[in-house]
Amino acid sequence: MSSNSEQISKTKRVEAMFNDIAPKYDFLNHFLSLGIDRIWRRKVIRKIVNDEPTDVLDIATGTADLAIMLAKKHATVRITGVDLAENMLAVGRKKVDELNLSNRISLKQGDSLSLPFENDSFDCAMVAFGVRNYENPVKGMEETLRVLRSHGKFYVLEFSKPRRFPLAQLYRFYFRAILPLVGRMVSGHKQAYTYLPESVSAFSDGNDFILLMEKAGFLGCKFKKLSFGIATIYEGVKG
Ligand SMILES: C[S@@+](CC[C@H](N)C(=O)[O-])C[C@H]1O[C@@H](n2cnc3c(N)ncnc32)[C@H](O)[C@@H]1O
Repeated sequence: MSSNSEQISKTKRVEAMFNDIAPKYDFLNHFLSLGIDRIWRRKVIRKIVNDEPTDVLDIATGTADLAIMLAKKHATVRITGVDLAENMLAVGRKKVDELNLSNRISLKQGDSLSLPFENDSFDCAMVAFGVRNYENPVKGMEETLRVLRSHGKFYVLEFSKPRRFPLAQLYRFYFRAILPLVGRMVSGHKQAYTYLPESVSAFSDGNDFILLMEKAGFLGCKFKKLSFGIATIYEGVKG
């Protein structure tokens, strides 16, 4: 199989999977993370608010949780969310409308690997729990770089792998045994919550992910582990 056809098939699989689980996504997200995802998101948002951006891109926005949190914390920022899965965006649009935020948040269907935006469109880009799903993370981040303005900041929130005993062992048990079981029972989707631990386990974290960001062209890349390394915030800047 050529790399191009592999890329199409992973993109299509991810899109179909998130379209399927969209109605249950928010509930499962907060339930399975025991609400900790909100604390992690808040930490990213705090950093972004400090930068005082005007135009922010939320890549792989899903149901727009990060975009909404930012809009609530920063009264003037405009946010564009982009995602492959229309059904995730539909849930997001409903929340945005109900919160009267549609004048500041717009959601658009699109692929992170070929973003539907002009060069230099945003002064900040963020992506939460999305990069791991790209077929080609470096290509996706090169696209992010392209649509960012000079000195624009890029923030990534992503699962990582705790390595210290006993958390590493507890986490592995929870992630591989409990989470797929509960995820399957609630969402009715056989693969989605098996895919989650598998994709985290296969994905680069810490310094390995920093190397990917640098390969894509970001400067000043650094990371901060959250909750003993269960998740990590990465940041970099366009030169
Ligand atoms: C785990 S969800 C995260 C959603 C949201 N950022 C959040 O924090 O809840 C991953 C999202 O990434 C989207 N996604 C995966 N690959 C993508 C790609 N290549 N382009 C755009 N969106 C993508 C999926 O459709 C899904 O909505």
